[in-house]
Amino acid sequence: MRLVLLGPPGAGKGTQAAYIVERFAIPHISTGDIFRKNVKEGTELGQKAKDYMDKGQLVPDEVVVAIVEDRLKEKDCSDGFLLDGFPRTVNQAEQLDSVLTKMGVEIDWVININVKKETLIQRAVGRRICRNCGATYHITFKATKKEDICDVCGGEVYQRNDDTEETVTKRIEVYIKETQPLIEYYSKKQSLITTDGEQDIHKVYKDILAALGE
Ligand code: AP5
Ligand code: MG
Ligand code: ZN
Repeated sequence: MRLVLLGPPGAGKGTQAAYIVERFAIPHISTGDIFRKNVKEGTELGQKAKDYMDKGQLVPDEVVVAIVEDRLKEKDCSDGFLLDGFPRTVNQAEQLDSVLTKMGVEIDWVININVKKETLIQRAVGRRICRNCGATYHITFKATKKEDICDVCGGEVYQRNDDTEETVTKRIEVYIKETQPLIEYYSKKQSLITTDGEQDIHKVYKDILAALGE
């Protein structure tokens, strides 16, 4: 199964991705996670990406596309993958199409998670992430059992630099301008599934599985 998760910042892409990749045993490719890992490790790529991320802007297409192309050529992607947060511009989507054509494969489904702006801000600002294993929590909707300690691995949970109300608002503006046009792009290709992301986490997941025919 080759899937793309589309949706505004804080919609629940990462949350749903964790369930979907386990269910279908496919790799989870989140460009945001790849950039955050590189920022943490202080690599050249991390240094390039950090300024854009902190300002809520997109990292340039050529940088992102090259990373995804390399990742898709790895062996664990041969039977499927889930892309989370990529593509994010029409140009990225066109370049992804040509990469996949060269590989002789295509995207099966693009899952769009629909959530309104006020909910997005509340979700992103309250989000907490484990520094060690990356598990995602929310101070209200998915709290850790012990304050600031990850349920899974005992690691420390933290708030992302770009999860302030101001930066989230900027990210939503960028989403509307740059990424929202992909909804039309993929609906023309008849590969789009839209889910109501306002529902609770498990109901959203159930709807996604049903739409995938599971
Ligand atoms: P990225 O990390 O991809 O951020 P994003 O797209 O803005 O999305 P988020 O990760 O913020 O949200 P999500 O949809 O994954 O929500 P989550 O499941 O965590 O990108 C970060 C930056 O990297 C970009 O701004 C850009 O600079 C750069 N970048 C990345 N990809 C790029 C690309 N392709 N091109 C250029 N630049 C790129 O959920 C959010 C919170 O809500 C959590 O706390 C969760 O517990 C909670 N929650 C989730 N679902 C529900 C629910 N149904 N009910 C209640 N709470 C819920
Ligand atoms: Mg995410
Ligand atoms: Zn953890």
